[in-house]
Amino acid sequence: MNKYAIILAAGKGTRMKSVREDMSKVSYPILGIPLVKYVLKALKPLELTEIVTIVGFGGKMTKSIVENDTKIVWQEIQKGTGHAVMQVAPLLEGKEGVTIVTCGDTPLLTSSTLKKLMDDHIKNGNKLTVLTANVPNPFGYGRIIRKENGNILRIIEQKDANIEEAKIKEVNTGVVVFDNKLLFEYLKTLKNDNAQGEYYLYDLIGKFVNDGLQVGASILDDYLEMLGINDRCQLAEAAKILRNRINKGLMLSGVTIEDPDSTYIGVDVKIGPDTVIKPGSYITGNTIIGKLNEIGPNTILDNMEIGDENLIISSHLVDSKIGNENHIGPYARMRGKVEIGNKVKVGNFVELKNAKIKDGVKSAHLSYLGDVDIGEDTNVGCGTIVANYDGVNKFHTNIGKNVFVGSGATIISPIEIKDKAFIAAGSTINQDVQSEDMAIARARQVNKAGYAKILKEKALEKKNK
Ligand code: UD1
Ligand code: CA
Repeated sequence: MNKYAIILAAGKGTRMKSVREDMSKVSYPILGIPLVKYVLKALKPLELTEIVTIVGFGGKMTKSIVENDTKIVWQEIQKGTGHAVMQVAPLLEGKEGVTIVTCGDTPLLTSSTLKKLMDDHIKNGNKLTVLTANVPNPFGYGRIIRKENGNILRIIEQKDANIEEAKIKEVNTGVVVFDNKLLFEYLKTLKNDNAQGEYYLYDLIGKFVNDGLQVGASILDDYLEMLGINDRCQLAEAAKILRNRINKGLMLSGVTIEDPDSTYIGVDVKIGPDTVIKPGSYITGNTIIGKLNEIGPNTILDNMEIGDENLIISSHLVDSKIGNENHIGPYARMRGKVEIGNKVKVGNFVELKNAKIKDGVKSAHLSYLGDVDIGEDTNVGCGTIVANYDGVNKFHTNIGKNVFVGSGATIISPIEIKDKAFIAAGSTINQDVQSEDMAIARARQVNKAGYAKILKEKALEKKNK
């Protein structure tokens, strides 16, 4: 059977109160990932024939987020959820199969919920199945009106509900499975004679019931799953729920999270057992962390690949790879595809960019090492700078194995410093250095006997004049 999904994502998100014209509501991120991506992730295991995302307000941004995974349909003017789905007619109208419609602003819905809804719909031979939830505060959601026998009758939107209807706590999650052919036939009958002057998709429920078509409703076990993001309070609320869900999963799989309330870990992050995450850490993107590491406090990791038994303290590491048993930080920074081997020390206030650092290298303090390869067991002294940029172009430098770079050296790229070379402290190096050679490039020191005393006396004389 053909299985389709339609994601509603064209709305403006008026309640976000944004001044941005380019940003759709479904692009707002939680833990670095846009809301609509969570919906896509939840739909993935349903093995769908096709997914269609309806974009409109801020549509370019939405499109760029989902276009690899879904077809895009534009709803240029937003006249409601029913009007949105009408735009999909050229793609899906008349096709046999079932279609699940979801909102792009409900990031907490799980795969198992969506899959069960789809399976139940097919198994029971329904023409329409709606997912509902009993919520403590139903404000803003469409209410479920049931008949005396308990069967579902229709949905009434917040703005159209009378006082009695508004008290109903069973609400529309926004997820409905339809017989695809009937969906597009019935869309043609929708009217916009309601408080918002919009075409409401969910009016179809009442129409199906009226016409005696088989309609099912299943109630969500955990109502928190259906939280829709309409304003920034709900954004923060959903972020918190998601964070708890992720942290809990990791802790149960053997990761120690000292303070889950102050630890932010993205949904795609993988962490091995016996790794300890300390408070204030923010770990996002496709970060993969091995076992037995100690990370944090206050560490930011984004798209990092980290091996085992590393100690990473208060650092900001992005788009890079670290082996095993390294000592990083406090206050280290990595960006632009750094590769660190094993047993390396990168200490405080060391910034690495596009650098390949082999096993046993030490750069313990206050350095910038950009566009450079450094061989095994080389020592980079405090305050060393690899000057890789002439204001226009970037250049690359190679430093060999077992090199000793004295403190405060400035290495002007591009050059080669061969194995076992020795760079004297304070040197400005702009020529290659051969293996086992020493390079010294600084003015010779002159000592003037007793001259400090004379200088002081002169200064005092001037002051007292
Ligand atoms: C909607 C439902 C409500 C349900 C709730 C669940 C309607 C009228 N109401 O209310 O019954 O309880 O979701 O979260 O649908 N959209 C478009 N085009 C439009 C209008 C909206 O694509 O013209 C998209 C939005 O981007 C959003 C979704 O549809 O992803 C829902 O729209 P929204 O305005 O958030 O509706 P709610 O008021 O939350
Ligand atoms: Ca909504």
